[in-house]
Amino acid sequence: MVKNDSEFVCSNCQYVSGKWQGRCPGCGEWNSFKERSLNVGKIKLSGAKPLEVTMLSKLTPWQQERISTGSLEFDQVLGGGLVPGSLVLLGGDPGVGKSTLALQTAVNMKSSGNSVLYVSGEESGQQIKLRADRLKATADLNILAETNLDLVIATILEQQPELVVIDSIQTMYSEQASGVVGGVSQIASATNSLMRVAKENHITIMLIGHVTKEGNLAGPKTLEHMVDTVLYLEGERFTSLRLLRCNKNRFGSSGEVGVFEMKGDGLEEVANPARLFLEEREEQFPGNCATAILEGNKVLLLEVESLVSQASFGYPRRTASGFDVNRLQLISAIIQKRLGVNLSNQDIYINVAGGFKLDERAADLPVAMAILSSLNDKVLPKEMLAFGEIGLSGELRGVANVDKRLKEAEKLGFTSVITGGREDKSLHSKYKKLEVRYLKHVKDLISIAGKGK
Ligand code: TYD
Ligand code: MG
Repeated sequence: MVKNDSEFVCSNCQYVSGKWQGRCPGCGEWNSFKERSLNVGKIKLSGAKPLEVTMLSKLTPWQQERISTGSLEFDQVLGGGLVPGSLVLLGGDPGVGKSTLALQTAVNMKSSGNSVLYVSGEESGQQIKLRADRLKATADLNILAETNLDLVIATILEQQPELVVIDSIQTMYSEQASGVVGGVSQIASATNSLMRVAKENHITIMLIGHVTKEGNLAGPKTLEHMVDTVLYLEGERFTSLRLLRCNKNRFGSSGEVGVFEMKGDGLEEVANPARLFLEEREEQFPGNCATAILEGNKVLLLEVESLVSQASFGYPRRTASGFDVNRLQLISAIIQKRLGVNLSNQDIYINVAGGFKLDERAADLPVAMAILSSLNDKVLPKEMLAFGEIGLSGELRGVANVDKRLKEAEKLGFTSVITGGREDKSLHSKYKKLEVRYLKHVKDLISIAGKGK
């Protein structure tokens, strides 16, 4: 075998190839391959001296100062506010409200006495002004509509603001970096430069990033490794509701979620989102089952709806909106096998009220109960909710954070909870108004939702 001592790397997308190619198979760019030597050779130390190492026990924990974003929800997602000198990436689909959130934060921080620079490569100053007017912004802001990163950095260094917003990182380009504007190498280089500016000058920088069709931040994941905090603003699924999710945080726990609502005058925080998705209705129908779902650090109460109806011909349908259809097929198969119910001639539809998407395994149990309830035309008690995972043999398993879920359930007036797994006795005295039943197997559901035909 011939051993190559060099390889070719696309200067636009870092695609690696053993031979030179005219067009990059990765990004389609022409004439972008550059040769790179693979000869590592011997390590040359060139007079470097070993450094002193520190014992962990001798270090004192670093007291982080935090700057408030002016929004309690946003602060919570960040783990208590923005850390000065950190690089925060705010990602999301086009039109979800990233610029709105960033501008609101900039205005809030300016109002509380921090200096702010808002750099926009996407919109003109006039457009930002329009948005600021919609937000009824009271504070004045320093705006810079520019895409040349070298000029932007020079301005930041001169102004030394406490917060810089870059809207968006994809529009920034530097003559010192290779590749096309918006390409991976331009984005990576821009992020790198801004990271150095942030750390060396103790300036907090918020980068806005677009999400590609595949759901990655444009500039495949490379950005996420470089920055301190990664936030995603999500929302198409929930009409005017927006979830701000923290996927990575070097200064706090990831997985935190903040809930906002897009109003005519900007994003408004929803402080108590638990009942947001719960339908307020007088009467309970067969096929409905309430559940308590964990989204990051928050418990949301939702309603699973099911319709089971006689299949007209052939293969029975399994349709789910807001729930994984493969999981639905599995749960139907478990019910069929373990309860001896014939579902092979029944169409099953599942819908999650409010357009919410359930990804948690805890949703297995409410889905199974909704199916049985619809199949038997048996109404489940209105004040009852269920959460739990179902195993292939039909056993019911417990889920994490039962305590949190029970707390919200009690708060919103539920009186009975069905779940699986081991009983936690301490919770009985804590939630006196709740009757919690820990079931072992899907067979135990018969007494609640009926046996089936
Ligand atoms: P925007 O922040 O521009 O989204 P992004 O920067 O993520 O692309 O917001 C886009 C949408 O938000 C736009 O369709 C209008 C709507 N919007 C409101 O409903 N209320 C408001 O106060 C603002 C500023 C925008
Ligand atoms: Mg925008």
